[in-house]
Amino acid sequence: MRRQKAVRVSSSKKAFPGNAQQAPFGRAVQGANPAAQANAALSQGRVEDALAILERARLSDALEPEVWRLRAIALFRSKRYQECVEAFDEACERHPGHLPTLISFGNAAMVMGRADRALDIFGHALRVAPGDLEAIYGRGQSELALGKPSEAATRFQSLVTRAPQEPRYWVGLGRALDHCGRLAEAVEAFEGAIAAGEKDKAAAECCIASLLIRLERPAEALARLDKLLAEAPANRQALSLKVIALGRSGATAEARALMGIDDLAADKALPVPPGYADIQSFNAALVKAAKSHTTFANPRPEMPMTHARKTGNLQPNDAPVFDALRAALVGVLQDHIADMRKTGHPYMAGMPAQWRFSIWANVLDRQGEIGAHIHPGAWFSGAYYADMPEGASDPVAKPGWFELGRPRDDLAGPDWQISRFFEARKGHLVLFPSYLYHRTVPFEGTGQRVSFGFDIVPL
Ligand SMILES: [Fe+2]
Repeated sequence: MRRQKAVRVSSSKKAFPGNAQQAPFGRAVQGANPAAQANAALSQGRVEDALAILERARLSDALEPEVWRLRAIALFRSKRYQECVEAFDEACERHPGHLPTLISFGNAAMVMGRADRALDIFGHALRVAPGDLEAIYGRGQSELALGKPSEAATRFQSLVTRAPQEPRYWVGLGRALDHCGRLAEAVEAFEGAIAAGEKDKAAAECCIASLLIRLERPAEALARLDKLLAEAPANRQALSLKVIALGRSGATAEARALMGIDDLAADKALPVPPGYADIQSFNAALVKAAKSHTTFANPRPEMPMTHARKTGNLQPNDAPVFDALRAALVGVLQDHIADMRKTGHPYMAGMPAQWRFSIWANVLDRQGEIGAHIHPGAWFSGAYYADMPEGASDPVAKPGWFELGRPRDDLAGPDWQISRFFEARKGHLVLFPSYLYHRTVPFEGTGQRVSFGFDIVPL
C-alpha cells in the first residue's frame, strides 16, 4: 500500500527557539511493552531510560506506533530538538494516520516556535480525524500564534459549544476574541474558563482585569485585583495591573507609591571587575563576546523588539567576561536589596528566599527599540549598558533612554502620567521591580545600543 506523504518540519536547530521544558503532548496511550515501559519512565522523568527502551525497540523494528511517538517525545524532553523532529518525521512516515503522533508533533512544533508547521500538522490531523477536539484546539492555537485571531475564535467557539466543561477551550476563545478587539466577549470567555474550573484562576482573573481596564472600567478591574491580591499578595501580574488600574482611576499618588518607582528603582555605576584596566575595556570585551555568542540572533517574532538582535540566556562559563559581569551585577544587586529593605515597601515582603540569576544581551541598531513589557516570571530586574549610540546624553530627545512605569499604549490610555526616565549611561545599570512596565526610547544616531538585561528569578 502506498504511504501517505509525511508531514515534515525543518530540522534546523536555529529554527526552534523557545522554552521547551514542558509541552502538552496530547493523550497518552497505554500499550504493551516497550511503549508502556517507556511511557512509565517518561511519566517519572526518567527520560534517558525511556530513550534506551525505545531505541532498543526501534532497532528491533517494532511496529507499534506508540514506540515512535514516545521516542520523539523523549528526544524533545531531552531538548534534542533536531533529532526530535527527525523522529516525528519518521513516526509519520511509518504511521501517517496515527492521530496521537500528529497531535504530539503539532504541540511540539508549537512549543518550538514553529506555528506555521504546527498549522500544517494539525490540518493533517483533521483530515485523519475530522472533528477531533484536540486537533481543532491545536489548529486554533497555531492560527492565533500566526496572527489569525478571527479564524482561531471560530474554532474555539465551536470547541466551547461542544465541550463547555474544558477550561482550555474557553481560555483560547478569550485570547482569540481579545486579539480580535472583541473585549467584552473576551471577558465572558475568561469567565467561562473560571466557571469551568480553570486551574490557573489567577491568570484568568488577570486577563479579565486587563480587559476591563481597556474597556474603561478600571474600578471593576481594581475590585477584582484587590480580591485576587488578598489571596495572593505576591502575584506580580496582578500588582502590575493594579498599578495601571489605580493610574487609570486617577489615584496617581497611590499608584506611584505601589510602583516603588521612586524608592525601589535606581541607577548605579558598575564597579570595574577585577582583571580589567577600566570600564571601557570591560565594555568592549562584553560587546565583542555578546556579538559572537552562539545564540546571538534576531528576536522571536512575538518579542516587542525592532531593529534588534539578542542572545539567549548566557550560561556560566560561556565567556569569562560574562562571568565577571554576572559577579559584579550580583554584588550591586545585593547592596541595593539591603537598601530596599530599609524602605519598608510592601514589595519586599514578596522577595524570594531562593533565586537564580538570569542574564542576556540586547543589541539595537538605529531606530531600534524595545516596546513596553514586564518580566512576569521575575521578582527584580535590571539592565546594564555596555555601549550607546552617539548623542545619547541628549535630555530632550532621550535617545536610547530607559522609561519606567508607562504601560503598553492600550493599557495606558491617552492620559497616563506616571513614568520615570533614566539615561542609559555606559557603565551604569538601571534596577527596577520586575512587574513595572518599561521600554526603551528609539534613537536615530550612529552606533549601537548594547545592553545586558537581567532578572532575579524565584526558585
Ligand atoms: Fe525588559
